[in-house]
Amino acid sequence: MTKAQTKPAPRRATSRRKPAATARAAPPPPVTSWIAQKRDGGELDDGAIRTVIDGASRGTIPDYQLSALLMAIVWRGLTPRELVTWLDAMVSSGDRMRLGRIAGTKVDKHSTGGVGDKVSLCLAPLVAACGVPVPMMSGRSLGHTGGTLDKLDAIPGFRSALAPRAFERVLARAGLVLAGQSATLAPADRRLYALRDATATVESIPLIASSILSKKIAEGADALVMDVKVGRGAFLPDRARARRLARTIVDLGRRAGLRTVALLTAMDQPLGRAIGNACELAEALEVLRGGGPTDTRALTMRLGAEMLVLGGQAPDLEAAAARIERAIASGAGLERLRRCVELQGGDPRVIDDPGRLPRARHQVVVRARQRGAVTRLDAGTLGRAATRLGAGRMRQEDRIDPGVGILLHRKEGDPVDAGEALCTVSFADPRRWAGVRAQVADAFTIEARATAQGTRGARLVLERIE
Ligand code: URA
Repeated sequence: MTKAQTKPAPRRATSRRKPAATARAAPPPPVTSWIAQKRDGGELDDGAIRTVIDGASRGTIPDYQLSALLMAIVWRGLTPRELVTWLDAMVSSGDRMRLGRIAGTKVDKHSTGGVGDKVSLCLAPLVAACGVPVPMMSGRSLGHTGGTLDKLDAIPGFRSALAPRAFERVLARAGLVLAGQSATLAPADRRLYALRDATATVESIPLIASSILSKKIAEGADALVMDVKVGRGAFLPDRARARRLARTIVDLGRRAGLRTVALLTAMDQPLGRAIGNACELAEALEVLRGGGPTDTRALTMRLGAEMLVLGGQAPDLEAAAARIERAIASGAGLERLRRCVELQGGDPRVIDDPGRLPRARHQVVVRARQRGAVTRLDAGTLGRAATRLGAGRMRQEDRIDPGVGILLHRKEGDPVDAGEALCTVSFADPRRWAGVRAQVADAFTIEARATAQGTRGARLVLERIE
């Protein structure tokens, strides 16, 4: 499962239709035969695809037919031509933001979702501070991966639901905007995504690629950097499949006029030290102040450098990284985030004083049972434990507790003595903690004879695809 969409697809009012007695009813589209065609490995023509997507956004094709078609696509895929039409129809199903009044190449970043991935929160303000406008439309958590909107909700008063005008206004004034998908943007994707989530049809490369890109194109971005996570805590753990997704997104995005670069990045262990909404926000603030864990900083720098090059603000990755370093050192990135938080109704005092962020009532330190080195830290297991404690949601209606989280004191490659702290867990409900305590301890594999050097320093950026 991946990031949740916020609301069900809007259904257009049917009251304006003529009464049945005076209007000649159009014959219903032959959806059943299209489902059969796809099921049997055939290719749908453009008219069929546009009718399906239109029916999905208007609510005129029932869930059971859409679900059957989605399952046929999971098995049979979409041809390149079908996929281009499918994406175009998804973008056209709703409003398209026109950000032409804002100067510069607008660049967004999207991650397929990981554990402890708070990079968007420090990346977007740094890139904005370097002169590239960042219209960032993010998602919420679902399953074991986190969502940027839930992390932002930890800021008292922060509003991520913005109407198109407000979205544009914040972008114009702060150079970045951090918002969720509005109801009128790619409504077909909203409906299809909700159905896919409920019918085990998320895991299809063409459906994922078109779903992500429909929102990025509709939000008005000119270019996109994709962070495709690979490994135990990723939604696509297998590297070959992750590579295929990245290649599909890059090629499809370019054909649709969105310049796209993808990085495959490691998600075997969590990114950084914080897992959970408020504590991840605090860690992102540390990065903006020039600190933070090495991996979080490195990934922020690399993704940011790619964005600056795409945005025409640096000739190459090295020069781009130097500009981002300067935006950290001068405090310009932090200042951008403060402005954005203020414009979106949030309490800017949390930027200077993360102690104001919510923190759950109970804290427990989990300690090593033996001496050795941490040879494996399972991101998926920790992500699922944090979710069960209330940091994420398993179902869309679940409530998140922003103060719940896990702070890692040891990561892969670190030496540890028996009795030393592995992590600190913050939780509100002791019964939930009792239910996940063993899981948290089991996420750490400690081997007595392993050396610290033997496991440390695994590569973060695995491949670049353009
Ligand atoms: N994220 C999306 O927005 N859509 C998908 O289909 C998968 C991940």
